[in-house]
Amino acid sequence: MTESPSWLGTRRVRLESCESTNDEAHRLAVHGAEHGTVVIARTQSAGRGRQGRAWYSPPGQCVYLSCIVRPSLPPANVPLITLAAGVAVCDAVNFYGAGASLQWPNDVFVGHKKIAGALTEMHSKGHQVDHVVLGIGVNVTVTVFPPELSDIATSLVLCANTEAGVVDVAERLLHELEPRLDALLSRDTESIRSQWLERAGLPRQVMTERGPGTAVDLTDSGALVVVDPAGARYEIVSGNVSCQWEQR
Ligand code: BTN
Repeated sequence: MTESPSWLGTRRVRLESCESTNDEAHRLAVHGAEHGTVVIARTQSAGRGRQGRAWYSPPGQCVYLSCIVRPSLPPANVPLITLAAGVAVCDAVNFYGAGASLQWPNDVFVGHKKIAGALTEMHSKGHQVDHVVLGIGVNVTVTVFPPELSDIATSLVLCANTEAGVVDVAERLLHELEPRLDALLSRDTESIRSQWLERAGLPRQVMTERGPGTAVDLTDSGALVVVDPAGARYEIVSGNVSCQWEQR
């Protein structure tokens, strides 16, 4: 049994169904919900992924949760929350033997299939961060994905010898996430950077919006450093990066 986290998820809102736990968490945050509030749903009718993609959300087979974080961080440091989430999710699925690694910024892959992802949405008041909604999805007991996902998605039950259910994985996830957020909120950005690098297996061949390259490092602010085939270095702060084997 995993120990309960001390602040993250002390207040939980459990829903049978919603459009998106990120939207519910944002709505609660606007009405004053406290730092660390977690919204968990059994299913989502309009789950969202990064870059406007839909997130497959069948009932009872995956974790769908969103955390309200009220960080005393400058907006420029908020992307590091995304990386911290990636580290936590990667460790949560590896606790059950998934053998996952990270792809920038926070996609969690087992081999060439994605098992989990996180969507960080920042909401500001003036120049200050008011709250961040950190939404995480983990595929847990899905055995058959829709045809359009079957080559690119996997679940814990498909890649690890575990009988863990959605509730166990959600608890494990919050347990892994809290210390990573604590580190970040106390400005220990270097520990998040180094933990992310350990799980990303760089250098790695990637395809970015500028073409093929080699991902070699992560900057202090969480940008990916890529070297193009001519040897020029550049940084990616947003957008899409995929490993080259995904392009085949
Ligand atoms: C991605 O990898 O593209 C991010 C996926 C994030 C999915 C989660 S599921 C819970 C929360 N609610 C959403 O609508 N999205 C996030």
